[in-house]
Amino acid sequence: MNIAANPHISADQTVYLKDYQQPSFLVDSINLDIQVHDDHTHVFSTLVMKRNAAGDLVLLGRDLELKSIKLNGEPLNSEDYTLDDEQLVITNAPDQLTLETQVVIHPESNTQLEGLYKAGDLFVTQNEPEGFRKITFYPDRPDVLSVFTTRVEADKKYPVLLANGNLLETGTVGEDRHFAIWQDPTKKPSYLFACVIGDLAVLKDRYTTSEGRDVALEIYAIEKDIPKCKIAMEALKHSMRWDEEHYGRPYDLDNYMIVAVSQFNMGAMENKGLNIFNTSCVLADEEYTTDAAIMRVQSVIAHEYFHNWTGNRITCRDWFQLCLKEGLTVFRDQSFSEDLQSAAVQRIDDVAVLKAHQFPEDAGPLSHPPRPDHFVEINNFYTATVYEKGAEINRMMATLLGKEKFRQGTDEYFKRFDGQAVTVEDWIDALSAGSGVDLSAFLIWYNQPGTPKLEVESEYLPDQRTYRLNFKQSLKAHPKYPNLKAVPIPVALALFNPQTGEQYTLNSPDLFENQVKDGVYLFDQDHASIEFSGVDQPPVVSLLRNFSAPVNLVFNYTDEELAFLIQHETNGFNQWQASQTLLERILLQEHSVEPYIDAIQKTLPTLVRQDPLLASRLFDVPTEGYLGSRIDHDYQPEQVQEKRNSVLETLARALNGFWKETYLALNPALQHDFSQAMGERALKNIMLSMMARQGDDEVFELAYTQYQTTGNMSERLGALRVLVWNDAPQAQQALDDFYNRYKDEALSLDQWFMIQAANPNATAETIRTLTQHPDYDLGTPNRVRSVSGGLSNNPVNAWSYGVEHYIDLAQYFDEKNPILGSRLLQVLSRWYTLAEPHKTRVKEALQALQPKVKSKNVKETLNSILSV
Ligand code: BES
Ligand code: ZN
Repeated sequence: MNIAANPHISADQTVYLKDYQQPSFLVDSINLDIQVHDDHTHVFSTLVMKRNAAGDLVLLGRDLELKSIKLNGEPLNSEDYTLDDEQLVITNAPDQLTLETQVVIHPESNTQLEGLYKAGDLFVTQNEPEGFRKITFYPDRPDVLSVFTTRVEADKKYPVLLANGNLLETGTVGEDRHFAIWQDPTKKPSYLFACVIGDLAVLKDRYTTSEGRDVALEIYAIEKDIPKCKIAMEALKHSMRWDEEHYGRPYDLDNYMIVAVSQFNMGAMENKGLNIFNTSCVLADEEYTTDAAIMRVQSVIAHEYFHNWTGNRITCRDWFQLCLKEGLTVFRDQSFSEDLQSAAVQRIDDVAVLKAHQFPEDAGPLSHPPRPDHFVEINNFYTATVYEKGAEINRMMATLLGKEKFRQGTDEYFKRFDGQAVTVEDWIDALSAGSGVDLSAFLIWYNQPGTPKLEVESEYLPDQRTYRLNFKQSLKAHPKYPNLKAVPIPVALALFNPQTGEQYTLNSPDLFENQVKDGVYLFDQDHASIEFSGVDQPPVVSLLRNFSAPVNLVFNYTDEELAFLIQHETNGFNQWQASQTLLERILLQEHSVEPYIDAIQKTLPTLVRQDPLLASRLFDVPTEGYLGSRIDHDYQPEQVQEKRNSVLETLARALNGFWKETYLALNPALQHDFSQAMGERALKNIMLSMMARQGDDEVFELAYTQYQTTGNMSERLGALRVLVWNDAPQAQQALDDFYNRYKDEALSLDQWFMIQAANPNATAETIRTLTQHPDYDLGTPNRVRSVSGGLSNNPVNAWSYGVEHYIDLAQYFDEKNPILGSRLLQVLSRWYTLAEPHKTRVKEALQALQPKVKSKNVKETLNSILSV
């Protein structure tokens, strides 16, 4: 690569935030003509550009075969520009210019699923973050916004020709070919460009916005999947209404299209007016997909829709600002989902993801701030930290401001920056100005890595009838980010009367505490204390309600206090958190299981009836993976597994008849409310697995009957899991039956692969059989992930024969699909916590991979992983 031509990129390919420079040229309009053929595609582009700042005209391009180039109508000679693997640079370009290029590309052999590629018989694009440069030469950066006019031309065997915006014209070319011309009136960066060419069916609907705009809604999928698009369509309309009601944001085009694709690296993509979705994030149907998948579809639909304002109308200045659009949009989709089901359960599930993925990421070699200040490959930064921690930062500010002020803040943001490419600072400034509250301290959260440790101590002073809480925060030192600062931590809290279980009112005159506003204390120093007066006995405190900040809370609750909170806390999230803390102590610190069992026995019978979904979450026993992520050295996965199994057995035995009685009493089919029914189904599956742990003779019969008689995928899969994971006599029969039922249903078949790969008893041979199965396909990321993801469910297996599995895949995908290769390799990032000799063995295997890989993606991840 020609380093001299691009001063923003250093010799080791690292890009730095501090080196940001304005683009030298802007693009007023781009005309694209994409002509698709079986063995190649022609792309003609005309850019109308004007100078914006000093510097050369830089057009990025990768894997493009340049056929012709004209500047202001004149063909350029090869001396007029420099061209390398990454870019085309024209020095001394005039201030106003029209640039025409013609290139040839090869979507038919593009396995990286970036740019224009072929997914089966369908041509689709994926351009975020840097895929557009694989379609044509362009200043492919998010701060260059332009009006796109797109002509797509293909054989008539591909009847569907889509691109962003409004359809202007269609027509035929000769006998066999046809074309469509689309124009997107909204200026957008190139990463939001999309086109789709293929043979698809469509589900149609309409929506009228609050402004009276009549919008045509279309979801494209293969014919047999059209009935599975209905839930997504309802979710889309719901999202459109929700964004109007909660953020005052109506939709701005006359059509909104979604296309379902079975080969896709990510979940979904928010291309303007033309979203492209992984089938797993749009197809939903009780018969073929699980309840969890149905909930996921609704939240991903909302997420991509919400990007229309937070991401598209207001976009990112550069990719360091990724969490500006992703963190905010995840916060928005989480809030939307809290309105769909039990809000507490949504919060529980979101925090569980945060703790299972983001906390370990932030504690290991891949740790980085939500807004990093350097990267080699931006695709490696679509991380739990950017997304989930990013969402938490927005949630903290929203918690602190309250609904009304937060809305004033977001209104100001949309007013100031509509149509612009902005930074995290711009967001914080607008939010502060609109709400009238200075939020600038929250910038610290964006700029530094690590999960803060929040230590709290309590004191009761009987003479003063005073209860005091002392707060302290700290962060682990990070080699690349010195000067770590204290962050603002909103601590939502409540005090309870230990005798009656009732919650005290914090702002009552006799229990006065002026630093706690609406139940939230803003702790923003290294140390601080707050006091509550007029307290006659030591209360039970519940800290960090609803997980009001993404921190590691250390507070020495007694086990009895935690059991008390399971019973009396009215915040469902903290009720769950208390159960998790208690279980974690039992699992990692050998505490007695009695207080947990006691609390569960007292709480569950009522809760099962009231909120079965929340009840089901109280049985969440921290996974082996999560427990492992809490161990920083001498980690022995086998020990964690053994301990966890023995606790589960104790639990299963202690509640003897409860499991079966509850199982038999539940009848999800009678529940009309989806959330209730989903809760009952979740409970039924838990009951089955606990009965299996008890060694109940009848459990396999019950499971097999459930498997056979249900029409619901969560029930069918739950039963299948119990049979397969416990080596039941009926297991093989059920697996064969499942295969025959669903062999033509890719998403259901993914579950079949997953359940076998995730079996705790799976061996290297099991995995080999699965990966050699005729339906296993390295070209379909979903299929690969169902096996690799299933395997990672069992750290004991993942850290033994799994190591080779992941390393082989990383090597294979290094060339074929580096984005996927890099992600799969991240499973091994905590190798250094393993006990010897295991640790050295994995390290050597990783080191042996180093000379073999070439992509920036895999190399950067491997180097980081090995840098501890
Ligand atoms: N913009 C992303 C999709 C994306 C990211 C595509 C990186 C290519 C590279 C999209 O909005 C997104 O965030 N999708 C998530 C799902 C969402 C619900 C968090 C995904 O794809 O996992
Ligand atoms: Zn997103």
